[in-house]
Amino acid sequence: MAAATNFSHSPLISKTRTYSLNHYPFPKNTILPFKLSKSYSLKPLSLKAVISQQNPATTTTQETTQFKHCFTKSQDGFLYCENLKVQEIMESVERRPFYLYSKPQITRNVEAYKDALEGLSSIIGYAIKANNNLKILEHLRGLGCGAVLVSGNELRLALRAGFDPTRCIFNGNGKLLDDLVLAAQEGVFVNVDSEFDLENIVAAARIAGKKVNVLLRINPDVDPQVHPYVATGNKNSKFGIRNEKLQWFLDAVKAHPNELKLVGAHCHLGSTITKVDIFRDAAALMVNYIDEIRSQGFEVDYLNIGGGLGIDYYHSGAILPTPRDLIDTVRELVLSRNLNLIIEPGRSLIANTCCLVNRVTGVKTNGTKNFVVIDGSMAELIRPSLYDAYQHIELVSPASPDAEVSTFDVVGPVCESADFLGKDRELSTPAKGAGLVVHDAGAYCMSMASTYNLKMRPPEYWVEEDGSVSKIRHAETFEDHIRFFEGL
Ligand code: LLP
Repeated sequence: MAAATNFSHSPLISKTRTYSLNHYPFPKNTILPFKLSKSYSLKPLSLKAVISQQNPATTTTQETTQFKHCFTKSQDGFLYCENLKVQEIMESVERRPFYLYSKPQITRNVEAYKDALEGLSSIIGYAIKANNNLKILEHLRGLGCGAVLVSGNELRLALRAGFDPTRCIFNGNGKLLDDLVLAAQEGVFVNVDSEFDLENIVAAARIAGKKVNVLLRINPDVDPQVHPYVATGNKNSKFGIRNEKLQWFLDAVKAHPNELKLVGAHCHLGSTITKVDIFRDAAALMVNYIDEIRSQGFEVDYLNIGGGLGIDYYHSGAILPTPRDLIDTVRELVLSRNLNLIIEPGRSLIANTCCLVNRVTGVKTNGTKNFVVIDGSMAELIRPSLYDAYQHIELVSPASPDAEVSTFDVVGPVCESADFLGKDRELSTPAKGAGLVVHDAGAYCMSMASTYNLKMRPPEYWVEEDGSVSKIRHAETFEDHIRFFEGL
């Protein structure tokens, strides 16, 4: 499988429209008449071992089709994760919904970045906020990644996962003193976000008795052309220092030679970016700042261009930028200044490695709209509700031949109308108990899950290289909730 094809992004997002996160730019489907499938029976679930099966898709000419993924719908109508039927996995696990990952896909995604970075001195700082599963972190660390942190607990987790703290970067516009002290003790790079942040970093350095390697997070004022909630590098953002204040920060660093060592400059433009020339524009501005900083005698040699590369949430097969496209667009600039490049990918490393696997509770209509009601919800996966984000949805097994194809909203059981996983999706009317997946759920899904409506957080599994399935996170239980009140 060509890893590079897994990082494609929709080129269809226009510059002028109001952005919803990865909003599909085509007209919505019209609502078709609703009919319940005749085969409307709940299939009993049996608990059995998951056995490795050959995915017919991998042995056919589909191998050469454009969009390739660890999740493939084969000619037999079943969805496979690597070589395993998702249906079989669904029937064997303790609880649904659950997150299902492909460990080999995580490896392939990291390798795509490593290949792209060949010839450059670099750190791939995985953005832990995208997914903080400890097993996944250990795997990413084993593949050579550093980590990007936004809280003291993310730092503690990175240390627990064995990350080298000197390959970790601490970001944030409201970093707390205690967390900065830990970062200083561990030798983590710290991005300076504001005047008060600089003050706190100085204080932390004194408490820890260590000089802190800092980068200035400069807001380059480049429009990333994404949903406003995930745009960070434009002028109105709460993140970073205004470029016209640069001199103030340089003077402040100079005034604290025992506490701060300025090693570089950082920017992060936003997330779900689908055009790499945006990164090039920002990098060009950033190397100019680095020239300016160097001209004042600072020995800075790190350029951190942040994360933000989007993925093909639409599964449309569009040719979209890959990690290589991203790195190639900044390569010459980085080499021209003899810089070490830090990148901070989250989504493009982990999103496409995972599905949320749900079971259909039932199908209903309100006369104008049809609904597939599933056991998963906005509690497990909030991106559609929060950002109107599109994540591809499909059934895991072939529908019965007489099942009507209709347009459905796919909704959960949570008591509010914002609880949807997908709107206006054309699907074969599923039987009760059928499996339904929400794709590209590896980033910002489990890490943003809540226990709203006391839907406890789901378990996570991955398919290993040898085709076996392992649990990589226990399901949260009602007892876990009760524990918060013990002894009160
Ligand atoms: N570096 C910094 C400083 C960041 O703020 C972020 C993400 C990243 C790196 C990683 O960006 P990525 O490569 O994953 O795009 N909850 C939203 C995404 C918020 C991203 C926030 N910052 C979502 O569900 O799409």
